[in-house]
Amino acid sequence: MNDDKDPTEQAKGRCPDLSWNDLAASDTRQVPLFLLEDAAPAMPSTPLSTERYTSAAFFDAEVQKMWPNVWQFAAREEEMLEPGAVVVYENAGRSYLLTRQVDGSVRAFHNVCLHRGRKLRTANGQVDELRCPYHAFTWYTDGSLKQIPCRWDFEHLQDADMRLPEAQVGRWQGYIFVKEAAGGPSLEEYLAPLPEHFMRWNHAQRYTSTWVAKVVPANWKATAEAFMEAFHVIATHPQIMPFTGDTGTKYNLYSEHVNLAITPFGITSPHMTEELGPQEVVDAFLRYNSRVIPEGTSIEVKDGQSARQAMAEFNRQRISDMVGCNLDHAADAELQDALTYNVFPNFSPWGGFAPSVVYRWRPWPDQEHTLMEVRYLTPVPEGKPLPPAVPMRMLGPDESWSSVLGVQGAIFDQDMGNLPHVQAGMKASKNQLLNLSRYQESRIRHFHQTLDKYLKP
Ligand SMILES: [Fe+2]
Repeated sequence: MNDDKDPTEQAKGRCPDLSWNDLAASDTRQVPLFLLEDAAPAMPSTPLSTERYTSAAFFDAEVQKMWPNVWQFAAREEEMLEPGAVVVYENAGRSYLLTRQVDGSVRAFHNVCLHRGRKLRTANGQVDELRCPYHAFTWYTDGSLKQIPCRWDFEHLQDADMRLPEAQVGRWQGYIFVKEAAGGPSLEEYLAPLPEHFMRWNHAQRYTSTWVAKVVPANWKATAEAFMEAFHVIATHPQIMPFTGDTGTKYNLYSEHVNLAITPFGITSPHMTEELGPQEVVDAFLRYNSRVIPEGTSIEVKDGQSARQAMAEFNRQRISDMVGCNLDHAADAELQDALTYNVFPNFSPWGGFAPSVVYRWRPWPDQEHTLMEVRYLTPVPEGKPLPPAVPMRMLGPDESWSSVLGVQGAIFDQDMGNLPHVQAGMKASKNQLLNLSRYQESRIRHFHQTLDKYLKP
């Protein structure tokens, strides 16, 4: 996609008041060159049909043509550390048993008994065998048949034909992926350029320290798209404008499956007319954003320091102490900005050195509902084993994100507050059309372009 970008279109498309690359040029360290790259081809401006979010037929096409052919983030390694550990991963009408093998590898079996079709398991666990609770048909953890009760009554079945069917498994930096269909790109090819970028931040040496989920009454794409642009900050998150360069966000579209938004923090939104000093910017950041720096922290800006420099200096030391290694090379941007990568169709890991946010969105179970998950991955010192992942905390319909995630959760509550009304509004729409901005919403356009490639007849 980089090859057909038009530099004229790129220059025209950006916010004239704030540029992330200008901030990167004044960083106290060299920002990684791949973040300075521009990959912003001109995008079409045709409206999108609301049918893509509301129609059962469109949803069925996704289930038939898209989901079986994409690599899906199914689990983290630290959810299944020991041989015999099983994770149930379900999405789009399929259920998989991710099973840790004796040699440390992972297999993904279709989670269905080959006898009468009961799901073999409905919960994660640690097992010696996979035994159906209905009639006790039993498989070894490598998927081969172990036992059929009353074998004399099943002489028509051959053991060799009774292996549990499997999906492809791919593993990268602690993430375990499944893909139902055979063939297609390898996981490495599919994720490019993510593996190259994340060599710097190494998510293999992190563990799931927080994991919260909630069912949102909106289409899974509409929910994911609420996290693909910073344009909504002005209306949805006004409290973060004092320290968020929302309109200065840089959007890069890489391969078919991967794109990136870099939202600068520690700089005031161009929407604000009020001039804020660096201490005011830092104080607002600490009051309303606990992802990068823990709640209750205070930072004093030194003479001559910018807000970005002060926060980065604090975080460079804090994260160095956390992981037990020197982060003197870490750019200010990598210690505080939101480096939000999206991997088609539903996986979004944040880059950078601070504890990362990871999003996943799954239809739950139809075009009207989404399981939205937020994880924090905390770095673990080199050489130390990964602690097991915390279990997923499922919020009830009346439980707020802020009740478990503090001021960071309050931001998610604001996002989720829009979504039921987005879904209802799309259905109520007179012309059934959506209009996207050319640049700030280019990741949404990119997503739909890729989706259309999977859905084409
Ligand atoms: Fe938001």
